[in-house]
Amino acid sequence: MKTILVTGATRGIGLATTKRLLARGCRVLALGRDFSRFDREVVAEPGRFERIAFDLRCVGAIEALVRDWPALDGLVNNAAMLTAQPFETYSVADRRDLIGVNLEAPAELVRVLLPQMIERAPDADGVRGRIVNVASVAAFGGHPDVWYGASKGALVNLTKSLATRYSPEGVLLNAVAPGPTKTDMFDRLPSSRIEAFERAVLARRFAEPDEVARVIEWLVLDAPAYVNGATIDANSGAYLR
Ligand SMILES: NC(=O)c1ccc[n+]([C@@H]2O[C@H](COP(=O)([O-])OP(=O)(O)OC[C@H]3O[C@@H](n4cnc5c(N)ncnc54)[C@H](OP(=O)(O)O)[C@@H]3O)[C@@H](O)[C@H]2O)c1
Repeated sequence: MKTILVTGATRGIGLATTKRLLARGCRVLALGRDFSRFDREVVAEPGRFERIAFDLRCVGAIEALVRDWPALDGLVNNAAMLTAQPFETYSVADRRDLIGVNLEAPAELVRVLLPQMIERAPDADGVRGRIVNVASVAAFGGHPDVWYGASKGALVNLTKSLATRYSPEGVLLNAVAPGPTKTDMFDRLPSSRIEAFERAVLARRFAEPDEVARVIEWLVLDAPAYVNGATIDANSGAYLR
């Protein structure tokens, strides 16, 4: 049974990903802070998942958190925050929290989980572990929450750097770039951005969380080893590049 850590598993895309991974027979370490929706919606036999109540703003405590964990097969860095404040008056505390949750925490989880991951025997494809970073179309086109957009651009860059660093050890590191997806985060987007995307997306509708989760599922379980260092667009042509 594969063991996969999903951050931000309590809602939205992370919750949809967790359900998919459980349906595929994985054991999921589900990280988040508020498990009320998770507990209502996740039905799986005991032992198949574990709730990890942890605030990713505490980046310095991540190493201690994972100290006694078994080696993982996969990591989905999905948790993120968005505050939609104007650049000119952005709170310094919120900026620090956002960079911590959206960028530093994913990097720190890679740093502390990789040593055990790469000690394991490779699978038939020569792969020892798979990491998926959930970025955003904002990585390419910017965002009204400029620190959110900047964090996602940096996450795509981090994916490339760490894929290059860890490819010799048999680890695949890829990213997904969703467009607006119907979650709580979507509800915090400025209406100007929603209207702009309404005009841009080829599908003429916004994504369901499960549509993004299917891409994450593919990357963390099924993608061929030749897909590495990539960012897969899941935004229905909202940013054609
Ligand atoms: N929805 C969109 O339109 C959209 C578009 C592009 C990219 N994305 C990306 O997709 C990913 C998932 O977004 P979503 O739309 O599913 O967001 P969401 O519904 O707002 O869920 C965010 C998740 O992140 C967790 N989280 C936030 N801050 C945290 C913290 N300090 N510590 C621990 N967990 C924390 C939340 O857990 P708790 O509430 O339990 O703390 C929640 O599970 C994010 O990386 C986001 O940037 C979303």
